[in-house]
Amino acid sequence: MLNIRYEKTTNPKEIPGKDNPLNFGTIFTDHMFIMNYETGKGWFDPRIVPYQPLELAPSSMVFHYGQEMFEGLKAYKTKDGRILLFRPDKNAERANNTNKRICIPEIPKEDFIQAIEAVVKMDKAWIPTKPGTSLYIRPFIIATDPFLGVRPSNTYLFMIILSPVGAYYPEGLNPVKIWIEDDYVRAIRGGVGEAKTGANYCASLKAQVKAHDEGYSQVLWLDGVERKYIEEVGAMNIFFKINGTVVTPKLNGSILPGVTRDSVISLCKHWGIPVEERKVSVDELFEAAKNGTLEEVFGTGTAAVISPVGHLRFEDHVLQVKDGGIGELSKKIYDTITGIQLGEIEDEFGWTLEIK
Ligand code: COI
Repeated sequence: MLNIRYEKTTNPKEIPGKDNPLNFGTIFTDHMFIMNYETGKGWFDPRIVPYQPLELAPSSMVFHYGQEMFEGLKAYKTKDGRILLFRPDKNAERANNTNKRICIPEIPKEDFIQAIEAVVKMDKAWIPTKPGTSLYIRPFIIATDPFLGVRPSNTYLFMIILSPVGAYYPEGLNPVKIWIEDDYVRAIRGGVGEAKTGANYCASLKAQVKAHDEGYSQVLWLDGVERKYIEEVGAMNIFFKINGTVVTPKLNGSILPGVTRDSVISLCKHWGIPVEERKVSVDELFEAAKNGTLEEVFGTGTAAVISPVGHLRFEDHVLQVKDGGIGELSKKIYDTITGIQLGEIEDEFGWTLEIK
């Protein structure tokens, strides 16, 4: 149990009004959580302080070798004023899996969740309530030893910042166009692809720029070895509905185990829809589109929730998913997940945690 100390801001910012579009990740609340780590001492001095710049040595290891982890989850305010988190235990577990992979000390799950609850409670007035909005929570850890040799750091900072957000993609629930990348790769098995660390996102930038220049909003990554099997979108996992079956790439070490991915699989199974976690090749996808069995394509992620995909391009081939609109199942999943997150649909799975 953390003994958190509080330093309240003396200069509160204006909370965005109802008309603010809350473009993703652009506005930050009044406070942040911060806690230090030192080898031999462990995690210490958990505190909530005004949101502020950090002072770090230019030699801090995170700047040179990228030893950092991050997470993403959301808080929602229900119509009757309760505050709900969606599956924070899954984020706590994944955070520690990332920590283990990149040699960052673990944080006890209860402490990780307590810190989130405390900072969200402090800035609860910032949780937006307009449909499609939420308070995005970004926990992260950086390596801070002032040292240029390559080894795990002995000091770290764990921080949590909060950002009121609307849709991740400007398209909202309208289908996005996705570029299947056949040249660059995001991750390979044995690397850090299944960890939530900046390196994966940095590796994705070049292809993302290329895709944007061609009018595509995201990149769909193929496996790094055969460049044949579909992996993930980088900011989302990917699902296909083929001939009545929901298919998603099986976690193989280079795919991020998404919390929304896991929730979608559970929901579909609960509804009696067949779900397969397996290898899916680009050839299979284009074949299914050709023979009319590709019914829906959608991405899943905390930031994006559910994002229908209307259009995919691989080399010179362009595939249009059905009529290019949002699929029936994608819509049902979106409505159910956001309904549970907002406390409007009964949470049969025990996924929400109320902050009291
Ligand atoms: C999230 O969905 O929370 C993520 O961390 C993806 C990020 C690229 C916004």
